[in-house]
Amino acid sequence: MSDRITSVVGRRVWDSRGRPTVETEITLASGCTGRAIAPAGASTGSAEAVDLRDGGDAFGGYDVQSALRAVNGEIAALLGGRDVMQQAELDAALISLDGTPNKGRLGGNALVATSLAIAHAAAAAQELPLWRHLGAGREDFFLPLPEVQIFGGGAHAGRRVDVQDFMIIAVGAADYAQALEWTAEVYRAAGRLMADAGLLAGVADEGGWWPAFDNNEAALDFLLRAIERAGYTPGQEVAISLDIAATDFGRGGRYRLARDAREIDSDGMCEMLLGWLARYPIVAIEDPLAEDDAEGLRKFSAAAGSGIEVVADDFICTNASRIAGAATLGACNTALIKPNQAGTVSETRAALDAARAAGWQSIVSARSGETEDVSVVHLAVGWGVKQLKVGSFARSERMAKWNEGLRIAEALRQTGGNLPPRASFPWGGA
Ligand code: PGA
Ligand code: ZN
Repeated sequence: MSDRITSVVGRRVWDSRGRPTVETEITLASGCTGRAIAPAGASTGSAEAVDLRDGGDAFGGYDVQSALRAVNGEIAALLGGRDVMQQAELDAALISLDGTPNKGRLGGNALVATSLAIAHAAAAAQELPLWRHLGAGREDFFLPLPEVQIFGGGAHAGRRVDVQDFMIIAVGAADYAQALEWTAEVYRAAGRLMADAGLLAGVADEGGWWPAFDNNEAALDFLLRAIERAGYTPGQEVAISLDIAATDFGRGGRYRLARDAREIDSDGMCEMLLGWLARYPIVAIEDPLAEDDAEGLRKFSAAAGSGIEVVADDFICTNASRIAGAATLGACNTALIKPNQAGTVSETRAALDAARAAGWQSIVSARSGETEDVSVVHLAVGWGVKQLKVGSFARSERMAKWNEGLRIAEALRQTGGNLPPRASFPWGGA
């Protein structure tokens, strides 16, 4: 089938940090529509597609009028009359229209909103949910295992602690719905523990509790206690995962730990993190070293072993050739997949394919600046990605995504939503 694009509209909407962002809405000859909103990061990698902002005084410089002009002008002219079913061809046309290596001319935000809107419109034209459209005839769908932030630190919490995300993964949950139930209990227990200790002070950017701790280890201790307080066996039922987001405080092999008031080198970072791996039930650790510390990432990955996920975010920026290069080097073993880092659906898919070709695990991820848009959940289910990271278990831009997973489970007629078999994760044998 084919269905022609009759209009492309870019409009300014607002994200979870109260900043402007780009929404693209596409209408087809059949009358079907598709729409998507660009998210935004705060701890960004330098090789990401450019999040084009206007600068100046309005809205702290975050306005997106030039990206919107691109959508409503050049991009609308390019896509008008084209067949919406040709995602790869349309993405390639968008990339060459932009003409830069980093999507800096039209804006990665303009392109990702448009590319995702094309996918939504193509799904609507076939009267399919997006996940099924992306599944391209597959029937073996499952829900992704949630990775959920309990404490939010780093750039998302005024650098109150160095580590950006203290998360949990309900590795022992029987299904997706139970993983959310266990997460809800741990999130509540963590809040109560902090209240009892007089440390409760609201939530960070992605909805995790604001980390009013003296240092990183104190946050880890609280997280471990929260898992126990909620009644789960640490490691067996609920495990810990971390996003160190080390690019934010490391450069040139030096790392400045603000809360611990000391500076350490790459080997010192590795030693500290390996110490945490030995003392806490951690199954995944993201950006343990900075994006410019490939040798540190290689050393850390070798020392951490294959039993845990060493997740690359800033180091690979959802880029297929960067993933292939990291794999050759032996740096990391898991790809964080963020559509707006790549800029189009096709490039996001190419990054996933590169990760799979390298034998890596993959995690689809939202950004710290989010909206009601739930496209990432559909990408994870449609593409058969085993894990999903969208921030905490609070605030509607996060819950919209967890809740969408429950609806998909129901549409699949799966009780609670099947998870991938435990044996297919690095911690499977644990
Ligand atoms: P960001 O953080 O969206 O602010 O970049 C998320 C992450 O680092 O994974
Ligand atoms: Zn990250």
